[in-house]
Amino acid sequence: MRLLASLLLCLCVPLAWAGNANMPKLDIGKGGQCVKDTQWMRQNHMHMLKHQRDETVHKGVRDDNSLKNCIECHASVKDDSVIAREDSFCVGCHRYEAVKLDCFECHSGLRKSAWLQRKAK
Ligand code: HEC
Ligand code: HEC
Ligand code: HEC
Repeated sequence: MRLLASLLLCLCVPLAWAGNANMPKLDIGKGGQCVKDTQWMRQNHMHMLKHQRDETVHKGVRDDNSLKNCIECHASVKDDSVIAREDSFCVGCHRYEAVKLDCFECHSGLRKSAWLQRKAK
C-alpha cells in the first residue's frame, strides 16, 4: 500500500508541475478572494458547481457559490467573459486539461452588466 502510494506520488506530482509550466497564464478576472482557497477550488470546483445546481434548482438556494457569482468575478476585465479567449479563465484551463463543458451552451459566459448591454443593442 505504501509502495503504491509513493509510486503514485512520484508519477503524479511531476506531471502536475510539468503541466503548470505549459498552461496558458489564465486571466483570473477582477481578482480578490475566491469563495474557497485556490488549491481546494482547483480540485473541487466541479463538485461544488454540480452540488450548487441541485441546491438551486431543487431547493431554491441562491448564495455565493452560484455559477453567476463565479462569472461576475472571474470574467476578464478586458472583455467581460470567462470563455472568449485562449486564456479566458474557465476555458483556458479546461482546454489545456482537455475538459469539455456544455454549461455555456445555456449559461452566459459574460459578466451580467456586459450581457445586458449586448442584449440591449
Ligand atoms: C470575488 C472573486 C471570486 C469569486 C466570486 C470566485 N473566485 Fe475563483 N478565484 C478568485 C481568485 C482571485 C483566484 C486566484 C487566487 C490565486 O491565484 O491565488 C481564484 C481561483 C480559482 C480557481 C483555481 C485557479 C487556479 O489557477 O488553479 C478556480 C478553479 C476557481 N477560482 C473557480 C471559481 C468558481 C467555480 C467560482 C464560483 C463558485 C469562483 N471561483 C468564485 C476569485 C474569485
Ligand atoms: C440545457 C441547459 C443547461 C445546461 C447545459 C446547463 N445548465 Fe445549469 N441551469 C440551467 C437552468 C435553466 C438553470 C436554472 C436557472 C437559474 O436558476 O438561474 C440552471 C441553474 C444552474 C445553477 C444554479 C444557478 C446559478 O447561477 O448558480 C448552477 C450552479 C448550474 N446551473 C450549473 C451548471 C453547470 C456547472 C453546467 C455544466 C456542467 C450547467 N449548469 C449546464 C440550464 C442549463
Ligand atoms: C486551473 C484549472 C481550471 C480552472 C481555472 C477551471 N477549471 Fe473547471 N475543471 C478543471 C479540471 C481539471 C476539470 C476536470 C476534472 C475531472 O475530470 O475530474 C474541470 C471540470 C469542471 C467541471 C465538470 C465537468 C464535467 O462535465 O464533469 C465543471 C462544471 C467546471 N470544471 C466548471 C468550471 C468553471 C465554471 C470555471 C470558471 C469559473 C472553471 N471550471 C475553471 C480545471 C479548471
